[in-house]
Amino acid sequence: MDATRSIEEALEQFGQDFAARFDAATSEQTLRDEKASVLGKKGKLTEILKLMGKVPAEDRRRIGEQVNALKDAVESRFEARLEALRRQRREAELNAPPFDLSMPPRLLAPRGHRHPLSQTQDDLLAIFRDLGFLSVEGPEVELEENNFTKLAFPPDHPATDMQDTFWVDVQGAPSGARTLLRTHTSAVQVREMSSRPPPMAIVSSGAVYRRDDDITHSPMFHQVEGFLVDRRVTFGHLKAVLDAFATRLYGPGTRTRFRPSYFPFVEPGAEVDVSCVFCGGQGCRVCKQTGWIEILGCGMIHPAVFEQCGLDPEAYSGFAFGLGVDRIAMLRYGINDIRLLYENAPRFLTQF
Ligand code: PHE
Repeated sequence: MDATRSIEEALEQFGQDFAARFDAATSEQTLRDEKASVLGKKGKLTEILKLMGKVPAEDRRRIGEQVNALKDAVESRFEARLEALRRQRREAELNAPPFDLSMPPRLLAPRGHRHPLSQTQDDLLAIFRDLGFLSVEGPEVELEENNFTKLAFPPDHPATDMQDTFWVDVQGAPSGARTLLRTHTSAVQVREMSSRPPPMAIVSSGAVYRRDDDITHSPMFHQVEGFLVDRRVTFGHLKAVLDAFATRLYGPGTRTRFRPSYFPFVEPGAEVDVSCVFCGGQGCRVCKQTGWIEILGCGMIHPAVFEQCGLDPEAYSGFAFGLGVDRIAMLRYGINDIRLLYENAPRFLTQF
């Protein structure tokens, strides 16, 4: 058999083979592999072309044309099969059961929210801001002077006792000064009254510390403190502000009750109750059948405090009040153990 004849036969065979192999490929990858085994360096066609040298010159042109036509055929067959495979896959996707678009996504991290104490604290501050109070912050590590002395606590007052106060050593504190974790936010009064000229209406909030630990007392808890200093401020102003506050916090119809009480830095001093938000004053378990719930301490700023802060008590007067954020949060959310607020257990916190 001459070379021309055998190469023509090989080409014809090749033409049938590659088409069958392309059609048999069921994935894009196997189709590409087949194409490589046909056209590639070690491919079938390359092998056939090695015989070209033996073909007589007059036949080469014709054989060459056949080879080019076959290459074109391979390319177009490949493209057609590729297209068919892609269409098949798309159809299979479309016919498959649909995605459930209503299925909730699995979040990488659950979404958080502010702690119930932070929410309560921010709400309380917002009420006083609306009433015109400027909100400021004070440090949690304080000088004895700001926390006790300038607030007219006598040196041996029981509140200063080791049993009640966390005394701490602070590097760089003024020599001879005693430092502590503030036991109340009233220290902010001293700081502000000592450093800015009246009039002023200020509110401050944050953590305070006492050596106390049971289901209604935590060694760390939170207070909101407000005070106002101007000329001719009266107890009437204090009542008006706290009534407005109680109404904003617990709604219209909320009543307040001022009971005489004692704090060294106010005169007169009072404790304030609001009509029970749960029973409306009828008496229930929360208010221990009294119809009233105690929410804060307040009073007219003592003349001695003005003096300590360098202000003339004859020229100025003012009022101050302090309330426990934890207690308000517990009432608001029906929490009966303060320690839950500090354990940071997700099963508790996610309820708010
Ligand atoms: N500082 C007081 C306390 O912690 C509360 C208070 C503030 C009372 C301002 C009167 C005036 O108990």
